[in-house]
Amino acid sequence: MTVDFDAAAKVLGGLRPYPVAVTTIDGGFANGLMSLSAGAASIIPEAPRATISLTKYNLTHDMVVRSGVFVMHMLSAEDEQLEQSLEILMTLGGSSGRDGDKIGKLRTKTGVTGAPILLDAHSYVEARVTGTLDVQESSIFVGDVVAAEILNPGRRLQINEAWPKLPAEWVERYEANHVPQLENARSRRFAEHA
Ligand SMILES: Cc1cc2nc3c(=O)[nH]c(=O)nc-3n(C[C@H](O)[C@H](O)[C@H](O)COP(=O)(O)O)c2cc1C
Repeated sequence: MTVDFDAAAKVLGGLRPYPVAVTTIDGGFANGLMSLSAGAASIIPEAPRATISLTKYNLTHDMVVRSGVFVMHMLSAEDEQLEQSLEILMTLGGSSGRDGDKIGKLRTKTGVTGAPILLDAHSYVEARVTGTLDVQESSIFVGDVVAAEILNPGRRLQINEAWPKLPAEWVERYEANHVPQLENARSRRFAEHA
């Protein structure tokens, strides 16, 4: 059976247009990353759930597995917040917590789970993990929302709006960092079938 990968990319691309900043804390160390995998995961309005998919290559993945908590932040697209939104995106998505503290560079307060809340984000939900699906190279986490807040009301930032505004050097570095991440994902996926 052959798959039309171009068609698959067209069907699956852009389904989740909002980049989210995910933070967590484990053993006293706070960390986080950017993700395009965020979604809602409950039909019960008074019992909301959030879902994220993180690759095992990323430190935040292991930290969420251990701590069982995460905060999912939306970023703001409003003019007065845009600079901070791009700063959050570049800080959390541009390097690993393995290479140094990222959260300390951002304005935060402590959430009810102990995880950091990014004060310059648009809004957030804070969640305790209720279920995890292990899919070789990544895990899909579903969490019960235990807190939520709109910090900076207005439009939420979409990735197509953010990407052209990012400095070329940052995009180059991000693309270089993506190469080992992809290799790691392939080796985890195909090792299971070898
Ligand atoms: C726009 C954008 C979307 C991303 N989406 C994801 C994602 O859905 N899942 C994931 O695990 N990493 C995603 N990443 C990559 C991580 O944010 C990046 O590898 C980060 O440096 C990992 O940091 P950590 O090792 O401290 O966890 C994305 C990065 C960007 C910039």
